[in-house]
Amino acid sequence: MKKQIIVASLALAFSFAHTPASAQTVNVICSVQAEWCNLISTVYAKTTGVKINMSLKGSGEGFAQLNAERENPKTDVWFGGTGDPHLQAAEVGLTLEYKSPSLPQLQSWAQEQAKQSGYKTAGIYSGPLGFGYNTELLKKKNMPVPQTWADLLKPIYKGEIQVANPASSGTAYTMIATLVQLMGEDKAFEYMKRLHKNISQYTRSGTGPIKAAARGETTIAICFIHDAPGEAMQGFPVLALTPKDGTGAEIGSISIVKGAKNLEAAKRFYEWALTPAAQELGAAAKQFQVPSNKATKVDARVPDFKKIKFINYDYAKYGASAERRRLISRWEKEVNSLPR
Ligand code: G6P
Repeated sequence: MKKQIIVASLALAFSFAHTPASAQTVNVICSVQAEWCNLISTVYAKTTGVKINMSLKGSGEGFAQLNAERENPKTDVWFGGTGDPHLQAAEVGLTLEYKSPSLPQLQSWAQEQAKQSGYKTAGIYSGPLGFGYNTELLKKKNMPVPQTWADLLKPIYKGEIQVANPASSGTAYTMIATLVQLMGEDKAFEYMKRLHKNISQYTRSGTGPIKAAARGETTIAICFIHDAPGEAMQGFPVLALTPKDGTGAEIGSISIVKGAKNLEAAKRFYEWALTPAAQELGAAAKQFQVPSNKATKVDARVPDFKKIKFINYDYAKYGASAERRRLISRWEKEVNSLPR
């Protein structure tokens, strides 16, 4: 009996090792913009023969999906999206500990993200939070360019600003966490209640507001500023800046799902995603985050971090499961429920 088991497992190991790449797939939740997700799929299939089943979800939605699949995971890798929900997923046991041999090649913030999660996630890019605005609309409406968080509260901007909903969007959660760290929690909630009066819509996706600003559907977007150049390259009159009083940044992350059915394929994809060649696909898809591999070529349109006033964002604290849940539900109760 024992001999039969050994023979069977050897046969299985042999057949796995000889599975042609073309027969392999990897199931990926992709939380960056569609252009980048699609380019990754195409290039990865072409260069490795491995097919990616891609599901596009915002950061909060990606986390919710992994949680829903907890008993029977359908996803192998979660690529991109803000780091806070990746840290949350690590903490609640949705993702696998995996210490990549490439970690030393990454920027310190990306390695720190890995360390903080017990090596259940790692940073693949970073980007600052700020304001995007439609230059033509601002001019037409005779409105100044907002320079600080305080400026956004001015009555002149009533109904002119969009930001995403933090339940689905990591961008919007980064805004809450940034404001709480900048002002203190109660003051930040007072601020968001006042800001609420100037918001026309809370979108599902973090990039909804900058796309709307680009197309003249809103004047101002609270967004990651690296999302503006891609819109401008399409000919839209849109620019972005970071607030003078300080801002936060995301650490876009990657995680392997605990219980992934295609674990070896997942690891291979993960390793590939940390290479400079893979990371250069971001800019090729008009996405201008700072790449985490130090050897990745940095496009000139990537925001210059040295010129930005950053808060000292506490990723461990704001990526903690209880804290993230508490802040989002406080926002639902005290801000989103208010009339405008
Ligand atoms: C865009 C940005 C990414 C960010 C993501 C978050 O794709 O380019 O840098 O990580 O949005 O999306 P979410 O919908 O969760 O705010």
